[in-house]
Amino acid sequence: MTKSAAEFDRWYADRVESPVADELVRRMLGLPPDLQSTSLLGGAGLDEVVTALGLRAGQVLLDLACGRGGYGLEIARRSGCRVAGVDFSAVAIEQARRRAQELGLADRADFRVGQLTGTGLGTASVDAVLVVDSLQFAEPALDALRECRRVLLPGGRMVVTCWEALDATDERLAPRMRHLDLLGQLPHAGFVDVEVTGKPAWRQAERALWQEALAVDAGDDPAVRSMQDEARRVLATFDGLRRVLATASTPAPAPLP
Ligand SMILES: C[S@@+](CC[C@H](N)C(=O)[O-])C[C@H]1O[C@@H](n2cnc3c(N)ncnc32)[C@H](O)[C@@H]1O
Repeated sequence: MTKSAAEFDRWYADRVESPVADELVRRMLGLPPDLQSTSLLGGAGLDEVVTALGLRAGQVLLDLACGRGGYGLEIARRSGCRVAGVDFSAVAIEQARRRAQELGLADRADFRVGQLTGTGLGTASVDAVLVVDSLQFAEPALDALRECRRVLLPGGRMVVTCWEALDATDERLAPRMRHLDLLGQLPHAGFVDVEVTGKPAWRQAERALWQEALAVDAGDDPAVRSMQDEARRVLATFDGLRRVLATASTPAPAPLP
């Protein structure tokens, strides 16, 4: 079962009250002080993502399943691009809008409620798409990749960070994690120049984060308690997944006759 928008709404409402969880994630993943993440992409990984996206000032990035908008806003700040953020949690979208205001980026940011498989954006309307640690929630992942393909301009860039099962028959893992196969699914969705790279160093940083989360005193902080529950679940099957960075493009425009 994937989590519903209402479950994510509650999760984000808890998280806004928890500077402890945010500090823990930033410190363990080496993230910039202003970046509000609700995933496991660390500072070094973000640098690679920024390079892979290759955005210039004025271009448009879709940060799909953007959560509180942390990565998209940081990329907008670094590159001068505009960011369109889409997530099905209305609470997360409200937090992302507030964050854009606080960072002075509201005039270059547009956050809206939408689905991984239906963003509401126009066809061929964005220069790049980023999906950080969220593709596993799409039902199914292939439809989300097709939606990314649809909204991208010809020659647009696609960057996904997520996990893949080492063994697709490993029943310890949720089915949604077992069905990710980006090397097969990205070309199927119409992408070219597909590369999927294993990221063992990112994976080690995740392990350290989950272990540290279990070591802190959660008190009655629901966000830290939720992290600890997740840490126990994740660490129990940690050896079953590999961390990946996938990059791809939409086919370039046809040359003029
Ligand atoms: C692990 S969080 C990652 C958030 C953000 N990308 C980040 O890295 O901080 C997963 C996100 O996926 C969103 N999500 C899950 N299923 C979704 C769906 N079907 N459509 C749109 N967003 C979805 C959740 O609301 C949540 O914000």
